Amino acid sequence: MIVSTEALFKHAYKNYAVGAYNINNAEQVMGLFRGNMDSQAPFIVQLSKGARSYTDKRLLEAMIRAADEIFPDAIFAVHLDHGDEAACMDCIESGFYSSVMIDASAEEFDENIAITKRVVDAAHKKGVSVEAELGKLGGVEEHVSVDEADAKLTDPKQVKEFVERSGCDSLACAIGTSHGAYKFTGSQGLHFEVIEEIARLLPGFPMVMHGSSSVPQDEVQRINEAGGALKGAKGVDEGQISKASKMGVTKVNIDTDGRLVWCRVHRELFRDKPDVFDLRPAGKVFMDEYAKYIVHKNEVLGSAGKLEDVRKQVAG
Ligand code: G3H
Ligand code: 13P
Ligand code: ZN
Repeated sequence: MIVSTEALFKHAYKNYAVGAYNINNAEQVMGLFRGNMDSQAPFIVQLSKGARSYTDKRLLEAMIRAADEIFPDAIFAVHLDHGDEAACMDCIESGFYSSVMIDASAEEFDENIAITKRVVDAAHKKGVSVEAELGKLGGVEEHVSVDEADAKLTDPKQVKEFVERSGCDSLACAIGTSHGAYKFTGSQGLHFEVIEEIARLLPGFPMVMHGSSSVPQDEVQRINEAGGALKGAKGVDEGQISKASKMGVTKVNIDTDGRLVWCRVHRELFRDKPDVFDLRPAGKVFMDEYAKYIVHKNEVLGSAGKLEDVRKQVAG
């Protein structure tokens, strides 16, 4: 059942975090839904602008509708990840999305507010909620390239004004993470002082953590042993993710880890079975392995086992 992102946030806030997982193809959709059913977790399925144009947005959306039928007990929201204004408006008009992210974080403060507010005004008329971004993550996003040195943590002093003036429903905060497989060197980690201060200034307001993949080191090692070259890949410590989920970080975005599972499965299979050229054997292993990854991640987030309680809240 597709539900509002708001309902999921209300249930989770400061108790656990909802996993927001990116999808690009049918195998990811199947693994994602299976994993969430196996761990009895509510979740968010999110589509980036790039994912929507990889095959065709209608194909991806149809797969989600089909998964909703195949897994009738699943409870999830559908979200546009890293949209620009045009993509947000397209998703709002479609009537299919629970929420959209307007990423105008590369703009100056006032311009970010102005763009976000235009999206909020259109979205709220249709019952769609809006995630905005303030601050700059390191790493590379699809339409925003931010140099590592330029990464700027969210300034808690700006957050209240930003939220009040823009009307956004949740906020992607730069708290030390970056997108992709190379997030940290040495002992860097999350900036809990920023999370704490935002939660103090805006109690009850959901924060979103982008760049939340933990880049499992066993995956990296297996990829490298099977011919990959991921040197120094490092993600967010899972203990830190758990801690953040109790402090108001309510949506945790994960894409890279799924790509790593995909890469490991395919590299190992074609290394070990050089006679295989069919796509289904690898696809089957990937679906199983991705489902297992989701089960594990939902344990870390604390969303595992929450499905029936969410159902009661949504139904009641
Ligand atoms: O934050 C970005 C997500 O990982 C989506 O990546 O734009 O390559 O689909 P993508
Ligand atoms: P990762 O690259 O850490 O998986 O982050 C994904 C993300 O933030 C999607 O919006
Ligand atoms: Zn992101």
